[in-house]
Amino acid sequence: MLARSSLRATRALGAAKSGATKTAQRNASSQSSSESTGSWKDTALLGSSTAFAIGSVGWYYYQFGRPAYAMTVQEEGLHPAKYPWEHEKLYKTFDHGTLRRGFQVYREVCSSCHSLSRIPYRTLVGNMMTVDEAKGLAEEHEYDTEPNDEGEIEKRPGKLSDYIPNPYKNDEAARAANNGALPPDLSLMVKARHGGCNYIFSLLTGYPEEPPAGAVVASGLNFNPYFPGTGIAMARVLYDGLVDYEDGTKATTSQMAKDVVEFLNWSAEPEMDDRKRMGWKVMAIGGVLFAISIWVKRYKWVNVKTRRLLYDPPPMKGPNRPDNVTVGSSFRK
Ligand code: HEC
Repeated sequence: MLARSSLRATRALGAAKSGATKTAQRNASSQSSSESTGSWKDTALLGSSTAFAIGSVGWYYYQFGRPAYAMTVQEEGLHPAKYPWEHEKLYKTFDHGTLRRGFQVYREVCSSCHSLSRIPYRTLVGNMMTVDEAKGLAEEHEYDTEPNDEGEIEKRPGKLSDYIPNPYKNDEAARAANNGALPPDLSLMVKARHGGCNYIFSLLTGYPEEPPAGAVVASGLNFNPYFPGTGIAMARVLYDGLVDYEDGTKATTSQMAKDVVEFLNWSAEPEMDDRKRMGWKVMAIGGVLFAISIWVKRYKWVNVKTRRLLYDPPPMKGPNRPDNVTVGSSFRK
C-alpha cells in the first residue's frame, strides 16, 4: 500500500517537474522576443514595494510592537519574591496567634507613625484578644464626648466602639514629624500596593546595611530596592528582638515582618475567612445541584434519546411501481 502510494507520488512529482520545465521554456521564449522592455521598471517596482512592505512592518512594530513602560525598571522598584503565605491558600484561614503577634508589632512599632483608622477596637475581640483586653486597650486613650448641656466637649476614656486613634492630629503634623513625608494609613495597605503581602514583607525586611555602590540616595531618604524610586522616607524599623512576644515566639526581623503583614492583611480584608467558608459552601451546594441537574436532564430526555425513528414509505401505486410485474408484488400488498 505504502509502496504503491509513494510510487504514485513520485510519478506526480515527475509530471509537475516536466510541467515546470515547459513553462520555464515558454517564459524564456516569450521574454527573448520582447527583450528589454520595462525590465528595470519591473525591478524598481519590485524593490520599492519590498522596501515599502518592510518599512510598514517596521513602522508598525515601532508604534505598537514594543512593550511600553510607564516607569523605568529602577523607578518601579525591585519586584518582590513570591512567598508561600499560609493564609492566602484557598482552604486556609488567618492564624489567630499570628494576628495577635502582628497587632502587637503594629501597636509597639508602627503605630507611632502610621494610623489604622478603619479598625475599631470591637473588631479585635474574638480575632486576637478577649473583650476585657480590648476594653483595656481602648481605655488607654481619651476620646471627645458629645457636647454636654453647656455645649462643652469633654474627654472620656475609649470604648470598644471607638476607632484606633491616629498618632498625629492631622496630615500636616504627620508630615512635619517625618521630614515632609506622610506615613500612609495602613488599614487597606495590603490591597493598596502592587504585590500586597509580598511587597510589604520585602519592604520591611529589604533594607540593606549600606546602599550599593553607585546608588544615589537623597538626604533624609533611605535606600530600599523594593520601594519605587529606591529612596524611602521610612527608615528600617524592625530589628531582631525589638518586641517581646508573650507566646515565646522568637522576635526575629522576618518573624515580626511576617506577623505584621498577616495582621495588615486581616485589617484590609477581615471578611476573608467568612468569604472562603461561603465559597466552599457555594461550591459544595452548587456541585450537588449541578449533578442533580444533569440527572434531571437525562431523565427528561430519555424518551427522546432512546427513540428509534424508522422511515416506512407508503406503497407506490400505478404502472411505475418497480415491483409491479415481479414476484414481490403480492408480498407488498
Ligand atoms: C518613624 C516613623 C515610621 C514608623 C515607626 C513606621 N513607618 Fe512606615 N512609613 C513611614 C513614612 C514616613 C512613610 C512614607 C514613605 C515615603 O513615602 O517615602 C512610610 C511608608 C510605609 C509604607 C508604604 C510604602 C509605599 O509603598 O508607599 C508601608 C507599607 C509602611 N510604611 C509600613 C510600616 C510598617 C508595617 C511599620 C511597622 C512595622 C512601619 N511602617 C513603621 C514612617 C514610619
